Amino acid sequence: MKILVTGGAGYIGSHLVDKLLEADHEVTVLDNLSTGRAKNLASSKNRIQFVEGDIMDEQLVNDLVTKHNLVFHLAAAVGVGNIMLDPLQSMITNVRGTENVLSACSRNSVKVLLASTSEIYGKTTKLPMSENDDRVLGSTSIARWSYSTAKAIDEHLALAYGLAGMPVVIVRYFNSYGPRILETGYGSVIANFIRQAKEGAPLTVYGDGLQSRCFTYISDTVDGTLRAAFTSQAEGKAFNIGNNSEIPILELAQMIIELTESKSTIQFVSYADRFGPSFEDTKRRVPDMEKSGSLYESLL
Ligand SMILES: NC(=O)c1ccc[n+]([C@@H]2O[C@H](COP(=O)([O-])OP(=O)(O)OC[C@H]3O[C@@H](n4cnc5c(N)ncnc54)[C@H](O)[C@@H]3O)[C@@H](O)[C@H]2O)c1
Repeated sequence: MKILVTGGAGYIGSHLVDKLLEADHEVTVLDNLSTGRAKNLASSKNRIQFVEGDIMDEQLVNDLVTKHNLVFHLAAAVGVGNIMLDPLQSMITNVRGTENVLSACSRNSVKVLLASTSEIYGKTTKLPMSENDDRVLGSTSIARWSYSTAKAIDEHLALAYGLAGMPVVIVRYFNSYGPRILETGYGSVIANFIRQAKEGAPLTVYGDGLQSRCFTYISDTVDGTLRAAFTSQAEGKAFNIGNNSEIPILELAQMIIELTESKSTIQFVSYADRFGPSFEDTKRRVPDMEKSGSLYESLL
């Protein structure tokens, strides 16, 4: 197939590109290299078309979509740190940029996979988080929730275009980690801890470290993405892509110190010192993998 990957120079996108090439697809990457890096595509650069450009460029997006029969839309302003730093640009990229991609796919009857996020669930305390659960968010005065809100608008748009006839599938990633991840990126706590441990610097744990997350290795993230995209039964639906084994961040820090045989200590930093006084975090985040798992099993 001729496949367009927006955000293909990013962490998840570049691994996805590698897998698509392994399956002999023709791949084009559209990326503005804001958080993505050309070196992520070092091993694939001679076999793809790389377009350095912006999903905000409606004409460019439309021209590219017309030449492809499947789009993986991963380009986004990503990472709580980045969102807090520039909530306006992040919202514009994640809402208007995604609308450009979805409307071009709809006009040209091209299937699209939309990369969404576990942030969708906000600070709900209902665990595990399943796809049809209520979303629980804080006040609009807290910038952190703008990422969740923008991605929810993206999902609503995608589902609405889906009802109007465009084939679409949504995946919600839960903290992916692996090679090429940026320390400033989304599930970057692992990359950050490893760097600090190797440098012998203190590992920075926000709050009391008892907040927990479920981490998913990149090959599983990509595998789930491909299965969702190439399964017609997945169309018109959203799926959690994650791992349901949970680890408190403090325990993760201790594990990385042990595994790297580092002499680093742990430094606790308050959320307020790192993200400002009104920051809110999600205490636990565990995906319900029932829906993704049953679809997978039904295909075996
Ligand atoms: N990594 C995770 O654990 C995780 C979790 C939840 C959701 N996601 C979603 O997965 C997708 C990929 O995330 P990632 O972790 O690989 O992050 P990433 O920052 O490595 O990838 C995003 C890519 O999009 C590109 N980009 C950003 N704005 C753009 C624009 N306006 N035009 C063109 N390209 C642009 C960046 O340069 C980058 O290459 C994102 O949509 C993100 O919201 C990731």
